[in-house]
Amino acid sequence: PDFWVVLPAAGVGARMQADRPKQYLLWGERTLIEHTLACFLDQPGLRGLVVSLSADDGWWPTLPCAQDTRITRAVGGRERADSVLNGLIALGELGAADDDWVLVHDAARPNLADSDLHKLLNTLADDPVGGLLAVPVRDTLKQIGPDGRVTSTPDRSLFWQAYTPQMFRLGPLQRALAEALAAGARITDEASAMEWVGQAPLLVEGRADNLKITRPEDLEWLRQRER
Ligand code: C5P
Repeated sequence: PDFWVVLPAAGVGARMQADRPKQYLLWGERTLIEHTLACFLDQPGLRGLVVSLSADDGWWPTLPCAQDTRITRAVGGRERADSVLNGLIALGELGAADDDWVLVHDAARPNLADSDLHKLLNTLADDPVGGLLAVPVRDTLKQIGPDGRVTSTPDRSLFWQAYTPQMFRLGPLQRALAEALAAGARITDEASAMEWVGQAPLLVEGRADNLKITRPEDLEWLRQRER
C-alpha cells in the first residue's frame, strides 16, 4: 500500500554522550539519519515524509537531504509522542487523508532492512488496526521490588520488544496520541497510544539487527557492519 512516514528526531540522545544529537553521528560516510531516510525515500509507495526536529537543531540544514522536496520539517516536542503528534499534524497539512497509512520510525534506527519494511506493509495492508515490527525477548526477564530483589520470573515467551516502524492510519493514530497525552498516560510508542484507546495492534516479527542506536556500544556495533 501507499504510505506516509514520520521520523521523530528531536531527542537529545543523552545516553550517547556525544557532542551532537545521535542521528548526526557518522556511519561510514553518512550520518545515521541519512541512512534512515534512505530506507524510505526509494520506496515506490512513499507519499511524503516528515522529520520532527528540535527547534534549535542547526545540524539538519547542513545535510544535502535538507534540500530534498520530498521531506518536510516539523518541530519536535518534549517527549517522543509530542514529536510524533506534531509530525502527524504536518502530514495532514501535506494532504494526507484520515485513513492513509503512516509509518512512524525512529531516526536513530538506521539499519532497517528492506525485507522487514515490506513484510510490515504487506502483513498490515488490510488490517483494521495496524501494528509494528517486534522481536521476541532473548533474555530471561526479572520483575523486582523497590529493594532491587527479584519478586518473579515471568514467562518470557509472552514478551516482545517493540521496534519501529509502527504502522497505523493517520486519523486514528493522531486521535489516540492526543487523547493519551491529554490524559497523562505514559506513551513510549505509537502502539501504546492505540492500546490506550482500546485497540490491539498486531506484532510482525522483524530482524533483531534493526537496532535503535542508544548507547556508544550500539554505534561501535553498527560501524563494524557494512551498509
Ligand atoms: O530517546 P530514544 O532513543 O528513545 O528516542 C527515540 C527516537 O525518538 C529518536 O529518534 C529521538 O530523536 C526521538 N525523540 C523525539 N522527541 C523527543 C524525544 C525523542 O523525536 N522529545
